[in-house]
Amino acid sequence: MKNDTKFLIVFCGLPATLKTYLSIRLSGRLGYAYIPTKAIGNITGLTEANTLYQSRIDRYFDLKNIIDSAINFGANVVVDGGFPTSESRNIILNKTNAERNILIHCICDEKTRVKRLEKRAKDKQDYENKSAEDILHNLKYHKILAQEENPEVELNNKIVNSLLTVDTKKMVLNWKGNPPNDLGDNIMTIIQELLEEVSQNNFRVIENEITKHFNDFAEGYDNTTEWRKNDEILGSMQTNSIPNPSRILDIGTGTGLASEWYSKQGHLVAGIDISPKMLQKASDRLNFVLLGNGTKLPFIDNYFNLIIIRQCLHYVNAKQLLNEAYRVLKEGGLIVVSGAVCTSEETKNFWTEFKNATQPLRLEVFTPKEIKDLLESSRYKIGEEKHYSLTRNEKLESIVKRARNIPGGLHSFLINMEKLSSKLFPELEFKILNDHLQYRQNWITIWAEK
Ligand SMILES: C[S@@+](CC[C@H](N)C(=O)[O-])C[C@H]1O[C@@H](n2cnc3c(N)ncnc32)[C@H](O)[C@@H]1O
Repeated sequence: MKNDTKFLIVFCGLPATLKTYLSIRLSGRLGYAYIPTKAIGNITGLTEANTLYQSRIDRYFDLKNIIDSAINFGANVVVDGGFPTSESRNIILNKTNAERNILIHCICDEKTRVKRLEKRAKDKQDYENKSAEDILHNLKYHKILAQEENPEVELNNKIVNSLLTVDTKKMVLNWKGNPPNDLGDNIMTIIQELLEEVSQNNFRVIENEITKHFNDFAEGYDNTTEWRKNDEILGSMQTNSIPNPSRILDIGTGTGLASEWYSKQGHLVAGIDISPKMLQKASDRLNFVLLGNGTKLPFIDNYFNLIIIRQCLHYVNAKQLLNEAYRVLKEGGLIVVSGAVCTSEETKNFWTEFKNATQPLRLEVFTPKEIKDLLESSRYKIGEEKHYSLTRNEKLESIVKRARNIPGGLHSFLINMEKLSSKLFPELEFKILNDHLQYRQNWITIWAEK
């Protein structure tokens, strides 16, 4: 899909007007970066949306900087905020580098809003163990916030090109100003479908299992597992043969380990990931982090000099991700893919069985040939490749945490795997030792060019 206009879509509205529900899904469907005031608070050490409401104008400026850098990085952006006052909306929307600013104002009648707030408070009580007083306080707090200035002012002052008012109860949508042609129709269709879902009570927030896994895991991520800080592997992904500064994108960046070197060299590095907690760590290492999906990149075409992907392809539709990377990469730009591999079809079966049982979120164990075929079928020209082998020690305790329920139990499963490997693949040195499992892990780093 050709994509070269930069759009900034800002959601505003009172609490419980379905802003978050709509904005998250709209950004996903359009492939735009999602910048929630709350997550950005967590990611950058800013405060939460609550404090933003308390007319802490400096916070709006911080948020504005984050939005601007996303746009300058070439992203189309959806911002999920409350922005009840004209002042707050002006800060976010004034003088952006987006080619079009769109404001989406979510509204509903007060009775519906209070009902939704009460339901939200009840869910919180159920899931967060909050006391009844806290919930009551919350409700009162939301009532204080039940005032907003009409966003038509921003349209009249030409700070936004278009304003879409969405009545989330009556399901009535209304464009004012210049609807953004095809995108305008697309937004209407998506929001109508989403509201339909709400009215049929299919309204559920499902946390992606991979996001949850990495959120839970973010704290200890850097210091568990041998490959993460392995100098040889990191070194194999580093090059001086790109202009400095270059624009670099690290897809599935995690805590930013694989691309940190480039930001230290003075390049401009953006990391994208689906886990806010991993990104929180990456924000200390990289110039910019974005919450988003690698298979639907929120960037314009032909934009980056280098794309980095380490240990991420097996969590996604790899072909889709590589095609998207190709789209945002400049002509002649480089891509480096690095990850654990199995070296033959026979060991692939062995590792697939092992990983399916102990890391069920992984979708695939690749051979080097499969990665190269994927790159070639996404039109890249394959360049240099390097192979490594390292000894891994996985604590049995952490394997137990990740493993799915195995008939007969994990321990006997591992013993069988040990027997099988010692007979068929002794080179894997797959052994159960006291409290951990030890094996050789093969690794590849491949460079390719657009
Ligand atoms: C094993 S970690 C690798 C992190 C980092 N690349 C490194 O080398 O240390 C895999 C990362 O991919 C991210 N990820 C998984 N699926 C993704 C997707 N569809 N889009 C973006 N990131 C994704 C996970 O959240 C996680 O942070």
